[in-house]
Amino acid sequence: MAWIGERDLGTKAVSAAAPAMVTLRIDGQDMTVPEGTSIMRAAALVGTDIPKLCATDTLEAFGSCRLCLVEIDGRNGYPASCTTPVADGMVVRTQTDRLAKLRRGVMELYISDHPLDCLTCSANGDCELQDQAGAVGLRDVRYGYEGLNHLVADKDESNPYFTFDPAKCIVCSRCVRACDEIQGTFALTIDGSGFGSKVVASQNDSFLDSDCVSCGACVQACPTSALIEKSVIEKGTPDKAVITTCAYCGVGCTFRAEMRGEQLVRMAPWKDGKANRGHSCVKGRFAWGYANHRDRILKPMIRASVEEPWREVSWDEAIAYTAGEFRRIQAKYGKDSVGGITSSRCTNEETFLVQKLIRQGFGNNNVDTCARVCHSPTGYGLKTTFGTSAGTQDFDSVAYADVIMVIGANPTDGHPVFASRMKQRLREGAKLIVIDPRRTDIVRTPHIAAAHHLPLRPGTNVAVLTAIAHVVVTEGLADEAFVRERCDWSEFEDWAAFVAQPQRSPEATEALTGVPAADLRAAARLFATGGNGAIYYGLGVTEHSQGSSTVMAIANLAMATGNIGREGVGVNPLRGQNNVQGACDMGSFPHEYSGYRHVSDPATRAMFERAWGVTLDAEPGLRIPNMLDAATDGTFKALFIQGEDILQSDPNTHHVAAGLAAMECVVVQDLFLNETANYAHVFLPGSTFLEKDGTFTNAERRIQRVRKVMEPLNGYGDWEIVQLVANAIGLDWSYSHPSEIMDEVAALTPTFATVSYDALDRLGSLQWPATEAAPEGTPTMHIDQFVRGKGHFVVTDYIPTDEKTGPRFPLLLTTGRILSQYNVGAQTRRTDNIAWHPEDRLEIHPHDAENRGIRDGDWVSLRSRAGETTLRALITERVAPGVVYTTFHHPATQANVITTDYSDWATNCPEYKVTAVQVAISNGPSDWQQSYQAQAERSRRVLPEAAE
Ligand code: SF4
Ligand code: SF4
Ligand code: SF4
Ligand code: FES
Repeated sequence: MAWIGERDLGTKAVSAAAPAMVTLRIDGQDMTVPEGTSIMRAAALVGTDIPKLCATDTLEAFGSCRLCLVEIDGRNGYPASCTTPVADGMVVRTQTDRLAKLRRGVMELYISDHPLDCLTCSANGDCELQDQAGAVGLRDVRYGYEGLNHLVADKDESNPYFTFDPAKCIVCSRCVRACDEIQGTFALTIDGSGFGSKVVASQNDSFLDSDCVSCGACVQACPTSALIEKSVIEKGTPDKAVITTCAYCGVGCTFRAEMRGEQLVRMAPWKDGKANRGHSCVKGRFAWGYANHRDRILKPMIRASVEEPWREVSWDEAIAYTAGEFRRIQAKYGKDSVGGITSSRCTNEETFLVQKLIRQGFGNNNVDTCARVCHSPTGYGLKTTFGTSAGTQDFDSVAYADVIMVIGANPTDGHPVFASRMKQRLREGAKLIVIDPRRTDIVRTPHIAAAHHLPLRPGTNVAVLTAIAHVVVTEGLADEAFVRERCDWSEFEDWAAFVAQPQRSPEATEALTGVPAADLRAAARLFATGGNGAIYYGLGVTEHSQGSSTVMAIANLAMATGNIGREGVGVNPLRGQNNVQGACDMGSFPHEYSGYRHVSDPATRAMFERAWGVTLDAEPGLRIPNMLDAATDGTFKALFIQGEDILQSDPNTHHVAAGLAAMECVVVQDLFLNETANYAHVFLPGSTFLEKDGTFTNAERRIQRVRKVMEPLNGYGDWEIVQLVANAIGLDWSYSHPSEIMDEVAALTPTFATVSYDALDRLGSLQWPATEAAPEGTPTMHIDQFVRGKGHFVVTDYIPTDEKTGPRFPLLLTTGRILSQYNVGAQTRRTDNIAWHPEDRLEIHPHDAENRGIRDGDWVSLRSRAGETTLRALITERVAPGVVYTTFHHPATQANVITTDYSDWATNCPEYKVTAVQVAISNGPSDWQQSYQAQAERSRRVLPEAAE
């Protein structure tokens, strides 16, 4: 581990693809740089750092502080080098006596209104003002410190993670510009003028009460300690850092994990991170305190029955017990009576090992992953149409999009760092189409308004996309040249004839979808004719009974309009969890080995059999819902669950609970005693992403390193625990480092052929396919031809879900998540993020609330055919009449008690997004919730004599 400081070149690089080059001389040194480069950056590129305060290379040049003055031959005065572009033949001097005097004068003014407490300041040693005062040689302030100043201004400590101290503020506007340019929230402004100028949040609110979303961009940009992390104040400035990858969402932001001694002090977004380009959101930036939370379980535990208290045991005993139980159960109930679930939160290497344990060690294919409940239709749909189970672009591609279509995704909450990049492009003029039942934030946000928001009824995605295709085909807007060259023409003709049928038109389907026909037509025309059209979608597409059909309908639309195979276009699933792409890539599905190769394929199977020295099962194994069904039927008896809380995250909680309760050995490997652990017999403490090496693969197919920052508190990385189990059942694994696991993946998986830790360290990241033909990876897919050859059009007939509204259940419930919390909340609920979302609320339209006598904040019961729960109401017009919405971050709510067993026809992905419900006034948590909580409390008991 070493200090990894980031050089600041002062202004941004020129973004033009092939800029003209300009030759100039700075301080006697000749150089050639792209036209448009600032003098400040040109100087920095050859090692000359011109003093600066308001400039930083993540923001547009601003030119306010006047510290960066230079002399230019033939020009009068002293121009600011940050705002002055280079010119051919220019001769610049950055260091003269006159400049030094001017700079000292500027700095004197700053310092005369700044507390003289450098030695005790929390940013001492990590402060640009301090550095620049030294750089300009300031030794004294002629004006004294007694005049008017800002030194007694009150601090704002409302944000849980950072403070704002106006006394330390030099009003350089970097924070304001970071919030505008990078984050796109526009929460800050400089209020007043002259001496009265000050930074304010929203309408002079506290940071916590303002529009601020706590992304940290302003803190990152601040050159002083005016905005500073509370963790730095508490622990001191960091002295070393290691680059690693966020363990929350599928954006895959990379961070400098900055340490002081053995303590993590802060996570600072890494400028060279190709997914985040130096930006972050509140989760990755600040919500890492769960790693040391007192709830973490650090010792293995076992119990013979879930009615008994847990008994803390040694690792040896826990591993031996696990191995013994799985072997006993297989001997008694047969080979197929056991299985495993891999985690989209764990590393690729750990996921690979769990599926290998099941296949090599237990001899069946009963392995599945939580992608089953989110993006399995993406895998199916994109493989069928394009030939690859993944998105087609990198995130940079959005900068070249002209029309952005967002379907069933809420990027500002779910994928906030990518949303900021999308918003940058929208502010530059790209057009936005949003297809979503809710008026999500992206529909109207500062300086952005969607050209079209199509608020469809939940469950009608396929009808809406077919109506859009109808307009494209019947109005002659399809890209015939692209389709003829790249796709199967006769399939296209069949598809075109289907979508052109009058009953598919916007007018014919308006009553069904709830989308006004004129709006839909306008949106379709815009997408087909507006230039580069890029489609981004989320779980609002996949978590339906027609999830796979919708993915294929999206692919059809992209192919028909020629929006595949170059930058600025494509079909882009916004993946939920940090490593959901990787979990799928690593062979977590019961029918596929790593790289999406079917288990029935003899050649692939033979390759794995040779490598693993066993005969492998050619029959696909059980999916998660099938494992639970088999458990209640008495044929499935043992489950190894790594890093998943299926009781809280999977649909129809009662069904999941019944399945788990019917098993004889449930092993949960996790950080905390999660809800699933209430039904477990073995608990193996897991490790956080800070405590192990490995890789995650983000939504762009980008493989990035996870690097160990601290020793695992539980003693082992998760990959080591799986290896212990494997060896206890008789295998002979001997991995000494996760890099060796990745080497095995690369040897067995053609799309990972050139992936190695050496390559990742050298290149920073790699997007698969990484093959001999593309050893450094593939940012954009399907450029010359589709991976499957010709693009495959699939007719996607709209088939309504069996989940129907009616007199008993007249409303449609749809679910989602919010920015500050993450999935079932196991991590974020154990951080200060709880300040923003202490409970799940039910969003309900004012009309529906009034009809039921519900006021904002009332307890309401939410009832479906599957179950009932109680939560408090939030009355809002974000949801349309007839639709209600909730998050599922809190176990007390148990939102998935409500969701049904209906699922995608192709992949069994649950239909979370459509549940018919009734809502009524209630007195508080239901009997079921109360008894569930009591049972959960009982099942968490640990024998006192075994506890420390
Ligand atoms: S808070 Fe920091 S970044 Fe913002 S104006 Fe003040 S000194 Fe500049
Ligand atoms: S934390 Fe982010 S959203 Fe909040 S004020 Fe700073 S830049 Fe804006
Ligand atoms: S956007 Fe996702 S990956 Fe990036 S910091 Fe936030 S949670 Fe982490
Ligand atoms: S750094 Fe150029 S004016 Fe501030």
